Amino acid sequence: MKIGKKMLMIMLVAMLAIVTAACGTGTTETGGQEANNQENTGGSESGQNGEATEQEEPLKIVVGTDAAYAPFEYVDTNGNIVGFDIEVMNAIAEAANLEVEYKNTAWDGIFLTVQNGERDALISAITITEERAKKMDFSEPYFEATQLIAVPKDSDVTKFEDLKNDYKIGVQNGTTGDEAVSDLIGRTNGNIARFETTPLALKELENGGVEAVVADNAVVLEYIKNNPDANFKSVSDDNFPKEYYGIAVKKGNTELLDRINAGLKEIQENGTYDEIFNKYFGTE
Ligand code: ARG
Repeated sequence: MKIGKKMLMIMLVAMLAIVTAACGTGTTETGGQEANNQENTGGSESGQNGEATEQEEPLKIVVGTDAAYAPFEYVDTNGNIVGFDIEVMNAIAEAANLEVEYKNTAWDGIFLTVQNGERDALISAITITEERAKKMDFSEPYFEATQLIAVPKDSDVTKFEDLKNDYKIGVQNGTTGDEAVSDLIGRTNGNIARFETTPLALKELENGGVEAVVADNAVVLEYIKNNPDANFKSVSDDNFPKEYYGIAVKKGNTELLDRINAGLKEIQENGTYDEIFNKYFGTE
C-alpha cells in the first residue's frame, strides 16, 4: 500500500516534470491553458472549445401560448400542447440550447405575463405590431399571415367593407382581427361580439349568433377544413395588410432574444423550418 502511494507520487512528479519541460518555452501560453482547464473542470459555461459548449446546461424557459388556435397551437386528445408554433419553438430551443416548458395561457392578459416575468417568452401566432413592440421585444418574424373572413356558405359578404352593412361580427378579443373590425365599424359598435378564443367565435358563427368572423387566415382555413358540417366559406380581401408573427420576450431581455433569433436563423438555414412549414402548410 505504502509503496503504491509512493510509486504514484513518483510517477506524478515525473509526469509533471515532462509537462513542464514540454511547455517550458512558452510560459504565457501555459498560464493561459491552465486558466482554461480550471474553467472547464469547474463545469462553467464558456465555450473556448467545442466540448465545453456541448456540456453547457440548457437555459430553462417558460413559454406561454394560448393553445386554442389550430394549427398554430392547440391541445391534442392526449392533453399535450402541439402545433406549428410549438414545433418551431422546439426546433429553436434545440438549436439555441434552451429547455422549454409550455404553459397554456389565456390570450386576454397574455402580454402581461411576459412583462411581469411569469413567462419568459410567448409564442402564440402573435402579430408584431407597433403598439405591442412598445411593451415587449419581438424576435425576427417567423410567419406571414393576414386576416380572413369566415361566413356561412350562403352569405352575401364578398369583401371586408360589406361588414359595414349591419352584420354581427365575431372576433377574438384583443386580436388583430378585433383591431381590423374596430377600425372598420368603430370600437364600441354593438355589432362586434368579442370572444375569449377564436374557436368560440367560430362556434357562435355556426350557431347563428354572429354572421361573420374575422381571424388569421390559416386558422379560419383550418377550422373550415376540420368542420365541413359548419358550412362556412372564407372571404379574402386584399385590403387586409400583411401580418408577421414574432416570438415575444420581456422588453430588454436581449440575452434570450438573441438566442431565439440565432436559433430561428439556424433552423431557417438548415431546412428544419421548411420541414415544419411543409408539414402544416405544404400543398399535396
Ligand atoms: N395574430 C393575431 C394577433 O396577434 C391573433 C393571434 C391569436 N393567437 C392565439 N393563440 N389565440 O392578434
